[in-house]
Amino acid sequence: MERTFQYIITFDADFADLALEELPAVDPEASVERNLAPGVELIAGRRSFSNVAAAWRSAPPVFVRHVCPVHVALPLSGVADDLERLSQAAAEAIAPQVDALRTFSVQTRLLADVAYKPFDVNTRLAETLAAISGATVDVRRPQQVISVVCAGSAGAGGDADEMTGYAGISDVRDNLSDWAGGVRRFARDPNQVSRSEFKLLEALEVFQIELPPRGVALDLGASPGGWTRILREREQYVTAVDPGSLHPSLAADRGVRHLRMTAEAYMADDPDRFDVIVNDMRMDGRDSARLMVQAADCLYPHGVALMTVKLPERKRRAVIDHAQRILEERYVIAGMRQLFHNRSELTVYLQPKDRRDDETQR
Ligand SMILES: C[S@@+](CC[C@H](N)C(=O)[O-])C[C@H]1O[C@@H](n2cnc3c(N)ncnc32)[C@H](O)[C@@H]1O
Repeated sequence: MERTFQYIITFDADFADLALEELPAVDPEASVERNLAPGVELIAGRRSFSNVAAAWRSAPPVFVRHVCPVHVALPLSGVADDLERLSQAAAEAIAPQVDALRTFSVQTRLLADVAYKPFDVNTRLAETLAAISGATVDVRRPQQVISVVCAGSAGAGGDADEMTGYAGISDVRDNLSDWAGGVRRFARDPNQVSRSEFKLLEALEVFQIELPPRGVALDLGASPGGWTRILREREQYVTAVDPGSLHPSLAADRGVRHLRMTAEAYMADDPDRFDVIVNDMRMDGRDSARLMVQAADCLYPHGVALMTVKLPERKRRAVIDHAQRILEERYVIAGMRQLFHNRSELTVYLQPKDRRDDETQR
């Protein structure tokens, strides 16, 4: 009999159709075995987790945010005894796979009504695994992650929704995100101007974008100025284009030039050149992509661009594909992801095509 492998994928529940469409590319026979919560599915497939992870490392998915293997599954009851059961299961099934020379951490998601907290599971399992394997716990930058997911209802009595704990170990690079379930939360900054700031922070982190020191940036659709504020924090001089107002703290900043006009008007009137272009304009994703194509003339060959592509409720795949084709006229798509902080949109990281042409000719 052919072997089956289990793993858990996480995505925004509003994008379930698009996330599940990403599975066949890495595992043609994969199918959903159990829905654990909105946007969290237990998958059964024929490819091993390391195969699936390697495929996604070289061609990252857009909608699947997190994936973790299942090496052991056990029934739970939702009360404190579960900690001992999970600890024993981890000792038997996970500890032998822990690399003693590399750091680890335990990341727990409780998708069921239980009498303990993720912290309780994390500390208990970390203690057990450190004692057996000799590996060191590093919660901030672990090299290996033990992912624990508890789902279902206690007393469901053998039906498909019985409360179950799932645990598996992986290299952190194989999880698509360093954060449990891809849930990346940032501390709230007292100077924060808008919630959109989180989108830019997450994009810079996920795509590992280093902004040039004292660079010159264009922020299209800047109002009320969250992205502009983040760019200023990273030493950029910002031209903020938006018919709307900027927060007073930015209006007084000499490193910000606010042009109260549309992006179309700005592009039509001899725009400057920039190291960085960001675009969070609220408009149809394809129209926004067309404006980015126009803006490519203003981007230095070494420059970087980031945009959010707003998606309609229907025919989202068609809009994404079309926006991508438009952008590819002038850019290489260096990354595309539906981030934790994105709503009905995804974020695209662009590099000018002429930069790549330069590099390949060298
Ligand atoms: C989601 S908000 C941007 C939030 C901003 N990134 C922040 O962090 O505060 C979208 C903005 O796009 C602007 N916008 C929509 N169409 C535009 C256009 N044609 N040109 C410039 N800005 C536009 C709107 O005025 C609105 O302020």
